[in-house]
Amino acid sequence: MIKNMPPQVSADETSVLLELVEQSLARAGDVVELGCYRGDTSLLLERLLERQAPEKRLWLYDSFEGLPSKTAADASAAGEAFKPGELLVSKREVVERFKKAGLKVPRIKKGWFEDLAEENLPEQICFAFLDGDLYRSIKVSLQLVEGRVVNGGVIVVHDYNNPELPGVAKAVDEWLATHKKARLNVRASLAILTV
Ligand SMILES: C[S@@+](CC[C@H](N)C(=O)[O-])C[C@H]1O[C@@H](n2cnc3c(N)ncnc32)[C@H](O)[C@@H]1O
Repeated sequence: MIKNMPPQVSADETSVLLELVEQSLARAGDVVELGCYRGDTSLLLERLLERQAPEKRLWLYDSFEGLPSKTAADASAAGEAFKPGELLVSKREVVERFKKAGLKVPRIKKGWFEDLAEENLPEQICFAFLDGDLYRSIKVSLQLVEGRVVNGGVIVVHDYNNPELPGVAKAVDEWLATHKKARLNVRASLAILTV
């Protein structure tokens, strides 16, 4: 397990993300992050919501058991560090970080994305941040949010351009091939999908 893991989302990507979230706030629905890890981005999302759209809720999802196993689609010599169980934090650590920051604790669901039930997700989503790193995780995340993202809402998938995590682009490209109305725009390593 790698200690002192650096932030998973770069400063540039974070500023793009926050700009996109702000733009989505005029739409109905809540904000979700699938793959929140220790909550670095989640804290910023919650702070933004509390300042600009306090009626909206943030919903977070993670196994809190670290990454699942890779599939063949994720194979990459460069991505050796992304092992099963890597990026493990507890839900309690994330809750404590919100409390310490003086922010409301979001809805946090512990579990594998594959096992989430209908009622674990908001009915309407204005902004979805998908950051599960691996092919199957992104594929399932897209399936979970696609019917809930409101017209004009945005889905952002992290690591689209990351050679360490080739499964992410494969999952996004397969999804785009079957969702012809969706539009892809890439900024840094973010795939920005408007539906
Ligand atoms: C790169 S980290 C997320 C980083 C976070 N979004 C941030 O901005 O700091 C990826 C997270 O996705 C979670 N994850 C990946 N696949 C998952 C799955 N299938 N079900 C549940 N959690 C998953 C891992 O546990 C890990 O915490």
